[in-house]
Amino acid sequence: MSRSDLVYLKNNVIAEPLFAGWYVWPHLISPATCAMNITGRHLKIMNSYIQSPQVHAAAVKNPKMLGGPFIDYVVNRAEEVKFLRDRTLDEQAPLIALAQAIQQLTKLLKEEATGFALEPLYEKVPAPLQGYVELFYDLQNQPSFRFYEALLYRSLYYQRSAQSILLTTADTDDRAFVLSTPRLPGAQGINIKLPFDQSPFDDLFGMRRTSGSYNQVRDALSISNGEEPLFRSFFTDSSPKVAERFQGEGLRLRYFGHACLVLETKDVCIISDPVVSQPYEGAVVPRFTLEDLPGVIDYVVITHNHQDHVLLETLLQLRPSIRHIIVPRSGSGQLQDPSLKLILKAVGFPNVIELAEFESIEVPGGRITGLPFLGEHADLHIQSKLCHHVVLNQYSVLLAADSCAVEPKIYEHVHDEIGDVDVLFLGMECDGAPLSWLYGPLLTEPLNRDQDRSRRLAGSNFPRAIGIVECFRPKEVYVYAMGMEPWLNHIMSLKHSETSAPMVNSTKLVNECRNRGIVAERLFGMKELIYQRDR
Ligand SMILES: [Fe+2]
Ligand SMILES: [Fe+2]
Repeated sequence: MSRSDLVYLKNNVIAEPLFAGWYVWPHLISPATCAMNITGRHLKIMNSYIQSPQVHAAAVKNPKMLGGPFIDYVVNRAEEVKFLRDRTLDEQAPLIALAQAIQQLTKLLKEEATGFALEPLYEKVPAPLQGYVELFYDLQNQPSFRFYEALLYRSLYYQRSAQSILLTTADTDDRAFVLSTPRLPGAQGINIKLPFDQSPFDDLFGMRRTSGSYNQVRDALSISNGEEPLFRSFFTDSSPKVAERFQGEGLRLRYFGHACLVLETKDVCIISDPVVSQPYEGAVVPRFTLEDLPGVIDYVVITHNHQDHVLLETLLQLRPSIRHIIVPRSGSGQLQDPSLKLILKAVGFPNVIELAEFESIEVPGGRITGLPFLGEHADLHIQSKLCHHVVLNQYSVLLAADSCAVEPKIYEHVHDEIGDVDVLFLGMECDGAPLSWLYGPLLTEPLNRDQDRSRRLAGSNFPRAIGIVECFRPKEVYVYAMGMEPWLNHIMSLKHSETSAPMVNSTKLVNECRNRGIVAERLFGMKELIYQRDR
């Protein structure tokens, strides 16, 4: 290795994880949800686009259709979409069969599980699911089944060979909405076809801060001669800015956008729901970026399994820096609630810790405690959700994420356990998308339009939020996780106006808190808070 061979990965390089050509969010990792999304989302959208690309082109220009099932390309790419659709039908045949089997098993149980013993039904379980499910009744004799999720990851239904990472460079925050638009290879990108858990990705992303051998990384990622000029342009000889660690006696808290907070003492660094922008020239909204993160992240804490809180794009790039990831405990084997631990282990994180409600993990100078996270999941039975109470150097911070305090009495009980807090972070996206937007492809029974619209992914509104404030009596209140930062566009597809309910409700909360002498702000872009001992 010659010295001239040593280079850094440019910080404006974007790395989008893909599965079968679609941007990866957690439901594309767990095999059963992946199968249902391929058939109930990807194939439907691609078929519709192939039929009439002009309808999609018109819909994506209409603000009322924002976040809808429309492919967002300026030029007609129907031929390429057709190619991807045909390849998906061919290569993902096992997952398509799995999705059909899930539908068939649901129907079988509805028709034939009538309160009698279930054993005779095992031989009627559709072949693709045999050996992967347990049948049961609930206490009202409603039949259901659960997956042996860990087995599905060991089967042909976990298709690591369809994983890749698409490298491009950022010159804007605008990216097409990931739930609706497949990533077609273009002249300005290199799609590296390697499973996410492979170590060459750690070497590549580690080169954002430590120089490495260009030739080695090129060979490890199997870059072709044709791709090499573009690949070479992703690297630089200049060393990056190095983020200085917080060295004070107290606590530094930095808001990186949405629900992403970096909590640092001189002894520990904790990051919540990492969603971090890469820097690029000409960015309009000022922000902390990947360059501002410390080289070692002791704990990542994940609040819940929505794509704006478990962003694999950010997590995979930080993998060389992350020591532990703390996730809410699940593992019920229910289709709608895949295990976050299994998802993160599958993509190459060895140290995933599950936390349950009222369980704590001791960290240097304090602890992290899991607390109930209410609602915001369209009334589906989903356990993978936790608020976090973080105590560091005697400062007490409550990260309530998107919790929708539909039952204030629960937080009264929580208050009995943890007492008042110093700082409260609360999401107030109180409109929320209807159930079908995220979970529609998983439904095995249709939901009518009114039911769908009544069951939303909605966070706390003003009355619920002020209830939480009155319960925990914080000295400071910050509204966060509003999806307002432009670098969230590709995963949220949200545009709030000043008159939209989340804005009106959160403004009201901020004003009401200030009237009561509480420091309050709705965060946007970036913010730094420092808490010193001599407060
Ligand atoms: Fe959420
Ligand atoms: Fe959220």
